[in-house]
This record gives sequence, structure tokens and C-alpha cells, in this order.
Amino acid sequence: IGSNVEKSKQPSEAAKKLKIGIYFATWWALNVIFNIYNKKVLNAFPFPWLTSTLSLACGSLMMLISWATRLAEAPKTDFEFWKTLFPVAVAHTIGHVAATVSMSKVAVSFTHIIKSGEPAFSVLVSRFLLGETFPVPVYLSLVPIIGGCALAAVTELNFNMIGFMGAMISNLAFVFRNIFSKKGMKGKSVGGMNYYACLSLLSLLILTPFAIAVEGPQMWAVGWQNALAQIGPQFIWWVVAQSVFYHLYNQVSYMSLDEISPLTFSIGNTMKRISVIVSSIIIFHTPVQPINALGAAIAILGTFLYSQAKQ
Ligand code: 3PG
Repeated sequence: IGSNVEKSKQPSEAAKKLKIGIYFATWWALNVIFNIYNKKVLNAFPFPWLTSTLSLACGSLMMLISWATRLAEAPKTDFEFWKTLFPVAVAHTIGHVAATVSMSKVAVSFTHIIKSGEPAFSVLVSRFLLGETFPVPVYLSLVPIIGGCALAAVTELNFNMIGFMGAMISNLAFVFRNIFSKKGMKGKSVGGMNYYACLSLLSLLILTPFAIAVEGPQMWAVGWQNALAQIGPQFIWWVVAQSVFYHLYNQVSYMSLDEISPLTFSIGNTMKRISVIVSSIIIFHTPVQPINALGAAIAILGTFLYSQAKQ
């Protein structure tokens, strides 16, 4: 009987693995496409506050239409839900805009190398702000993460301080986003897809006034005309693509977060960065020195050691 039970369990285990595999592959592919179009747009139209706002606006619109047409069921939310979501949205907004500002100043690969150091921020915030302690191997894994990122940063040919700080701020903000979201998603009254949709809507409300204050319609209008003159009408499609793919990759990542542990999620996220780093270096012909690549490899290896040590 035991072996029959084992046998009957097998397909569902395999189906679960397949489902997670599909989620991961989709998440990485969508993310690579987002990063490429986002950088193409930023190269021609260097207004990261507007492109960040458009990504959130596009996602919010897609979800409002899906709810109105009943393509997706609208979530039942109360004031308490939005109150708990607020700090998550603040952190999401800061992390998003900081990463986009970073990518407007440096190569996509450099931003993502620095962003692969996110686990180090997670440990330091948990240790010094939340008083959480970890086993010694977890702290040791921070040595290659921090060392690798530092080596990659000092040997980066096109280093830029705003680009570097943007990626660092994004890391810090996303650590807080993850800490707050864990609390917010507890009880699971709203599933991953709708949770991310609400997050987009709230972040859009938070970001819009800041984007107008920092850049503003006058600069956008001039920049838009220049980009259209330089690229042609297909520039509009690049903007649409970066916005749609931003929403889709985040939606899939939140949907997979529903199914897997935060640890598996962070391993998936690191592997995602490898695909983004490699594909953006190829597509944008980013110059890389061997010592620079070594720094990136050490940092990424460190994040794997970190996930092993946390296990
Ligand atoms: C953004 O614009 O929000 C960043 O590119 C996000 O980075 P991540 O989702 O890869 O951490």
C-alpha cells in the first residue's frame, strides 16, 4: 500500500515542480525583455522617474481592465489591507525608481551585479534593525557577496556614483519591501496576482507627484520629441514593451512567491540576474574586463553560498 501511495504522490510532485519550473522560466524571460527595452528607452529618453511611473501605470491599467471585464476576479479588500500595504508600496516605489535611475546612468549588467548583493542587505538589516541572529556560515557568505560586488564596482569601466548608489538604495528598499510584504501576505486573503496589482496601484499614487516634481511635463515633452526624432515611431512601442513587461515579470514573481518559500524565491531571483547580466552584455556590447567579470562571479557565488547557509 505504502508504495502505491508513493506512486500516486509522484505525478503531483512532478506536476508541482513543472509548474514552478514554468513560473521561473517565464519570470526570467519576462525580466530579460523588460531590462532590454527599459535600457533602450532610457538611452534615448533619460527620464527614469517617468519610465518608472509609466511601468506602474500600465500595470495598474491592465489590472483594472482585467477586473472590470472579469478576466480576473477583483480582490475583496478593506482599509486594514491598504494600511498594511502602504509601507510595502513605499518600499516598492523607492526600490523601483532607484533601480531605474541606476540603469539610466550605468550598464544594466552593473546595476544587476550590485543588486545581486541584496542578501547582504537582508542579513545586515535583520541583524542590526530587527535583532535577528544567523548561524556563522550565513555571515561568512557575506564576505564573497560584499567582496565580489566591491571588486566589480572598482573595476567597472563606466562607473558612475548615482548609478552605484541607485542600485544600493534599491537593495535596501527591497529588503524592507520583502519584510513588510511577508506580513501583508500572511493569511493569504489576496493571492499573489492581485496583491501585486494593488501594490502597483498604490505605488503609482505615491510616485506620480514625485515624478512630476523631479522631472515634470516640460522636460518630458522635449525629451519625447527628441527620442521620436532619433528613433522614430517604434520608440513608442519600446515604452509600451518596457511597461507591459515590467508588470508581467513582477506579477509572475509574486504568483510564484505564493507557491514557494522565500529562500527558493531568492535563489530564483539570483539566477534571474545571471540571465539579465549575460543577455544585456551581449545585446548592448557592454565592455567587460576579466577582473570585472571575476568580481561579478564571486558575488553571485556568494549569494548561492548564502542560500545554502540559510537552509
Ligand atoms: C525595477 O525597476 O524595479 C528593477 O529593475 C527591479 O529589479 P528586480 O525586480 O530585478 O529586483
